Amino acid sequence: MTSKNIVKLLNDQIQKEFYSSYLYLSMTAYFKSVNLDGFANFYFIQAQEEKDHALRIFDYMNQIGAKIVLEKIDAPKVDFESIEEVLKLALEHEQFVTKSIHNIVDVALSEKDHSTYSFLQWFINEQVEEEDTADGNLKKFQLVGNDGRGILMIDAELAQRVYTPPVANN
Ligand SMILES: [Fe+2]
Ligand SMILES: [Fe+2]
Repeated sequence: MTSKNIVKLLNDQIQKEFYSSYLYLSMTAYFKSVNLDGFANFYFIQAQEEKDHALRIFDYMNQIGAKIVLEKIDAPKVDFESIEEVLKLALEHEQFVTKSIHNIVDVALSEKDHSTYSFLQWFINEQVEEEDTADGNLKKFQLVGNDGRGILMIDAELAQRVYTPPVANN
């Protein structure tokens, strides 16, 4: 039986994942506006994956018969001054999400909620990847600084990213 406490945390996490999607969509719009289509492609896919994360929790909550309460999604930042600002914010945001996931894991452990604990393992691993990718993007950018050719090389690399839909019931 999942506690009210955990149900609330899972509902909050659905909201955080949708907010993440919204934030990355806003970053996509910024990169489109400065004609960096590779960066825009990367963040557009990121936005889709965050929506998938929200739906993964939605599915789990339905499976365990928990009451889903969809919460208000705040507006993300829309004005960005530089590429570096976006990349830093993306990394900070993923670090924030990792803390949030770890907190739910802590509570699940303390309540001996093995089902939720097991469910969250996927998210723990996903956050390791998310932070690594965001950190990699920031470091690559910092290497090239404001060199236009370097930025275009990163843009070309990020243009290669392809969206992979999640596998059902995984
Ligand atoms: Fe996520
Ligand atoms: Fe993420």
